[in-house]
Amino acid sequence: MKKILCIGAGYVGGPTMAVIAKHCPELEIVCVDINEDRIRAWQSDDLPIYEPGLLDVVQQVRGKNLFFSTDIVGNIPDADLIFVSVNTPTKTFGQGAGRAADLQYWEKTARQILQYSRSDTIVVEKSTLPVRTAEAMHRILDSRSSGPKFEVLSNPEFLAEGTAIADLESPDRVLIGGPTTPAGQKAVEALAAIYRHWVPAEKILTTNVWSSEMSKLAANAFLAQRVSSINSLSALCEATDADITEVSRALGMDRRIGGRFLQAGVGFGGSCFKKDILNLVYLCEHYGLHEVGAYWQMVVEINHYQQRRFVHRMIQSMFNTLAGKRIAIFGFAFKAHTSDTRESPGIEICRELVEEHAQVVIHDPKALENAAKDLHDLPQKQLVFESDPYRAAEGAHAIALLTDWPQFQTLDYRRIFQSMVQPAFLFDGRNLLNHADLFEIGFNVYSIGKRPLSHLD
Ligand code: NAD
Ligand code: UDX
Repeated sequence: MKKILCIGAGYVGGPTMAVIAKHCPELEIVCVDINEDRIRAWQSDDLPIYEPGLLDVVQQVRGKNLFFSTDIVGNIPDADLIFVSVNTPTKTFGQGAGRAADLQYWEKTARQILQYSRSDTIVVEKSTLPVRTAEAMHRILDSRSSGPKFEVLSNPEFLAEGTAIADLESPDRVLIGGPTTPAGQKAVEALAAIYRHWVPAEKILTTNVWSSEMSKLAANAFLAQRVSSINSLSALCEATDADITEVSRALGMDRRIGGRFLQAGVGFGGSCFKKDILNLVYLCEHYGLHEVGAYWQMVVEINHYQQRRFVHRMIQSMFNTLAGKRIAIFGFAFKAHTSDTRESPGIEICRELVEEHAQVVIHDPKALENAAKDLHDLPQKQLVFESDPYRAAEGAHAIALLTDWPQFQTLDYRRIFQSMVQPAFLFDGRNLLNHADLFEIGFNVYSIGKRPLSHLD
């Protein structure tokens, strides 16, 4: 194998190819995209996505064995293996709208591969796709009676944003699903050999294609389900004076449950969880498994409920009106260490605050540009995008912390308190800060799943 092509240079394609290039210097890797701005950014040091450690890896390999290009069809003919890493958003139209995966980008790619390939090629699904999509791709690629032969593998990506490089360098597992035919198994082995350059062999799992596709959807559904489970209990904690941090600690110390993904907050965001669960629900309904679909649908419902509940608590505690009040938002990215705001809880929460006629001042260390795009349709006189947290809080009635950026822990909250309108409120949507200290400074502190610390009672 000599040349690898990756179609789709996004959050998955870019970092994944950079890490493969780093560990496999003998391979030539080209990452292509239809988005010219994105490719230009990958060719510069102002990369299109923010990910800790990414620039360093890109700089080590770019121009040596990793190349970024908009020439898709020109790079297909001599590729030995093609990763397909295009976006697969939720369908917004027609049958399955709001739930099924929109496969138009993906199918277009399959047809391009068929049209331009000149030799036998391994095609690897890197995008997260509904179960049995590889079979459909195989049908498209097999639709000619002569010409190159294709093997279609599923190799879903498990990286999380903000830790993409660490996850790629040291994955919990690499999953490769392939046909059980001799040619299929040969293709699986060729892909496994790439990963074995740096991933221990025992962490490379091979399955049939459908198990691999299903495992990806299931992994995201399980992780999201844990977040919704703890968030649902946070509502009960607020009603009963139990403390969700204590509850999740007690739960997590049970080794059968484990401590991760039990952090209560304003709900999960990100481009994957909601989309993949809706996709799973759609599949369940397609197969007539309505109870199973309803079970997973509730994970998404609880996530919306948690966001609505957060705003409701703000309104209630701030004397039942936010109209004309300045609210400083600390954090708009869907999680720390990323500029990504796709499906971020901040979007819904800020929209509701604007609806309540609040003046919303958004601060985020990396995501302000995306925040402005997400809220472009709202009345702009009610929105301010502020790169300095102290200026964002100045004259504010309340701070709502929505992203767990660690730098929010070390701000000078005494100074912030003094610059705010009194009584000053702080709503910690990630249970990130030291609430006793903030209360002592004078804040009325509301967090998730805990009794409020209020000077007003
Ligand atoms: P993305 O939107 O960041 O990137 C996809 C890229 O594909 C875009 O730059 C788009 O311009 C390009 N594209 C679309 N159609 C194309 C075509 N016909 N030819 C060439 N390029 C085309 O998406 P992403 O976050 O990288 O996700 C890609 C896939 O990986 C999705 O299926 C997603 O579910 C899955 N995934 C994402 C993550 C994550 O953390 N973001 C993690 C695991 C899996
Ligand atoms: C997720 C999966 O983790 C990853 O394996 C998959 O490849 C892509 O989708 P990502 O969305 O990047 O990754 O981030 P993740 O760390 O999973 O967090 C998702 C959301 O859940 C974030 O909004 C995060 O803040 C929230 N979360 C996570 C919680 O609210 N509590 C937790 O305990 C953990």
